[in-house]
Amino acid sequence: APNYEYIIVSEPRPGVGQITLNRPKALNALCTPLITELNSALRQFQSSPTVSAILLTGSERAFAAGADIKEMAPLTFAEAYTNSFIESWSDLTTALKKPLIAAVSGHALGGGCELALMADVLYCTAKANFGQPEIKLGTIPGAGGSQRLTRAVGKAKAMELILTGKSFSGEEAEKWGVAARTFESYDELIEAALKTAETIAGYSKVAVQAAKEVVNKSQDLPLRDGVEYERRVFHALFGSQDQKVGMKAFAEKKKAEWTHS
Ligand code: CAA
Repeated sequence: APNYEYIIVSEPRPGVGQITLNRPKALNALCTPLITELNSALRQFQSSPTVSAILLTGSERAFAAGADIKEMAPLTFAEAYTNSFIESWSDLTTALKKPLIAAVSGHALGGGCELALMADVLYCTAKANFGQPEIKLGTIPGAGGSQRLTRAVGKAKAMELILTGKSFSGEEAEKWGVAARTFESYDELIEAALKTAETIAGYSKVAVQAAKEVVNKSQDLPLRDGVEYERRVFHALFGSQDQKVGMKAFAEKKKAEWTHS
């Protein structure tokens, strides 16, 4: 396995890959080398036959405190533009077909909030500290925050949050539909996220990938097109072995033995 400087990679449970952001001195600020490592680890898990679901987390104190402000401070327009700064962060949403669960404790600010919003399932502690404070730095969210947060909480709240830079708690994140569940402690958070990852990893890989794909389509397509897209994929799954395996097992009151084909 490659030797990473800013992340820790493990396989803590059957079928589960874990990436822990590990740049404690900067509260996991997302410098370019960290993102490069993250993308590399995600690509490795994507192609690994032993990993079916991925957990992304930080420390108890910080999921990630944003893009690296010290790295960004001297950037010119031309450098940012010609290098398409931040674009590679989205590799996570385009290259990764396996489900990604983010477990957020502590700060998830700016790019940290945006990274969490890219996950398929977001769990957090009740006290987690989310926000898009870029306005305070004389800039705006640059990793999809204005789009994903707005889709998640609606324009009224997103506009207020992004224009004021005010943060919101994990409890609010759940209430507003950003987070699926909240937990009182960091340990409970990690345990629940691992359990969920393990549950997902216990299903047919074919069905899981299709389920993620169609839910994500709902964010891009008008309703009628999305429903049609879903039906096409649903029909396609009748061509999979695991649809037969799953339904036969139900009828016979047995546990399905997935073939992942
Ligand atoms: N970039 C670089 N370094 C950061 C950082 C960041 N985003 N966030 C924290 N750090 C560093 C601090 O500079 C500090 O380093 P030193 O010890 O060398 O001074 C260290 O991490 C610890 O931070 P604090 O001493 O500030 O810790 P705190 O507990 O007092 O405060 C905090 C925590 C409220 C998260 C505060 O660090 C903070 O406000 N951080 C910046 C948050 C932010 O503005 N994020 C948005 C960045 S812009 C962005 O992300 C653009 C985009 O959309 C892609």
